[in-house]
Amino acid sequence: MTLPPLHIIVNGEDHHLMVPANRILLDLIREDLALTGTKEGCGLGKCGACTVLLDGRPVHACLLLAHQADGCRVDTIEGLADPAGTTLHPIQEAFVEKGAIQCGFCTPGMINTAKALLDENPTPTEDDIKLAIAGNLCRCTGYHKIVDAVSACACGSGKGECHG
Ligand code: FES
Ligand code: FES
Repeated sequence: MTLPPLHIIVNGEDHHLMVPANRILLDLIREDLALTGTKEGCGLGKCGACTVLLDGRPVHACLLLAHQADGCRVDTIEGLADPAGTTLHPIQEAFVEKGAIQCGFCTPGMINTAKALLDENPTPTEDDIKLAIAGNLCRCTGYHKIVDAVSACACGSGKGECHG
């Protein structure tokens, strides 16, 4: 069966692509669009490394067919900093400042999950943050610094800024 071209908006850019019916969204992002910031860990929906935002909601790109994203907006870690790529997003800055990155493999998915949380709830509690990132595994940091980094981005935090 020939499917119509897939229309997908990735980091604000329109793409019209001929995509096989069985193409996984993660492979489309990493291989067809060469956006390798999105990582493949388990490929089974268990580690969160592949988390991207689909119309603003965090999803496991390894579990979705590309055609399930037809007509949707997909945001990956590459789209988070300013378009010129010269300034990090405040959440990225907080991860750096708090030492919430070691090998960095979990970081794109973790930051996308944090972005979705902060967009929905600009004042999350520590428990809210732990619940939100429960599906994102990190083998390096022990999580405390990640929770600190996300907390630092909450409205009314010590930084006094709201980052959504
Ligand atoms: S690679 Fe998708 S959840 Fe692990
Ligand atoms: S920083 Fe290495 S897996 Fe999280």
